[in-house]
Amino acid sequence: MNMKICLMPGDGIGPEIVTQAVKVLEKVAAKFGHTVETESALIGGAAIDAVGNPLPEATVAACKAADAVLLGAVGGPKWDTIDPAIRPEKGLLGIRKALGLFSNLRPAVLFPELAAAAYLRPDIIGQGLDIMVVRELTGGAYFGEPRGETVVNGERAAFNTMIYSESEIERIVRVACEIARKRGKKLCSVDKANVLDVSRLWREVAIRTAAEYPDVELSHMYVDNAAMQLIRDPSQFDVIVTENLFGDILSDEASIITGSIGMLPSASMGSGGPALFEPIHGSAPDIAGRDIANPLATILSVSMMLRFAFGLEAEAESIDAAVKSVLAQGFRTGDIFVGEGKKVGCSEMGALVLGAI
Ligand code: IPM
Ligand code: MG
Repeated sequence: MNMKICLMPGDGIGPEIVTQAVKVLEKVAAKFGHTVETESALIGGAAIDAVGNPLPEATVAACKAADAVLLGAVGGPKWDTIDPAIRPEKGLLGIRKALGLFSNLRPAVLFPELAAAAYLRPDIIGQGLDIMVVRELTGGAYFGEPRGETVVNGERAAFNTMIYSESEIERIVRVACEIARKRGKKLCSVDKANVLDVSRLWREVAIRTAAEYPDVELSHMYVDNAAMQLIRDPSQFDVIVTENLFGDILSDEASIITGSIGMLPSASMGSGGPALFEPIHGSAPDIAGRDIANPLATILSVSMMLRFAFGLEAEAESIDAAVKSVLAQGFRTGDIFVGEGKKVGCSEMGALVLGAI
């Protein structure tokens, strides 16, 4: 197979971690007899600096022409005071919309090797954590119209619109049901149906859609309670499906309780067309350029890409196994180092994974 990959290193630690992940991709491809063609495209702050636009036309075209997209991270304090219309984040939101990437899969998994780095008590973590957050990614308050600033009673006021159509809800619930079916068969739909009209429609459509998946057990939870339950008893969850803004918040929470935010990949997919893979963590400007970032989330994003975009299960598995073996040997980047094992930097961690493939 020939894989055409568009690389968007982006900002902060993005370029360092993407460099390591690409080496891993090339090694796995060679081992299994595939070829990789890569093209790099600008996004975020790097694109603002180069061409004054966080999402240049050429980037959208390069992504559309690729089989899959690998993204590092976008944003940083350098662009915090910039005109909000061209903030780095606009690049990320724009590419999600342009590629129709409505479903965002964010696994929150506790690596047994890293149990000591988890933030919860051992009795709460129990046998480990394995939650999949399915976040709607192209709707809700992030994109809803109308939005903007106005004047109300002589003072400034600002507003956004959290809006979902039935078809938008249905397609993301369907994705979540399909995923639940291949895992623990439990789906928790998170909403705020006790207050929001949009959530009441969400719940109604979720019930209707999930009814087509009788093998999947559907439950509902208000988002405030879900935030609490994730800390109190995270192992009650298998798959969570929720709208864009709630999913943004809950997926950060779910990933940090594992203690492994530097370890977690994500996939953003549409219906056909190239999907986008990226680490869950951000651009970490404070440690950028110092070769100390953790490249494993990006390396595992390559594994997710092989699995979800190309259906290459054995290839994906070889990356997962290599990462596990490097962790089992005690190698740790700073973010997952809790006193034991050997601390390594970004390129050294990349080289260790390469060596284990
Ligand atoms: C994420 C990020 C983005 C989001 C930002 C950078 C626009 O927080 O991918 O979760 O809010 O979706
Ligand atoms: Mg977020």
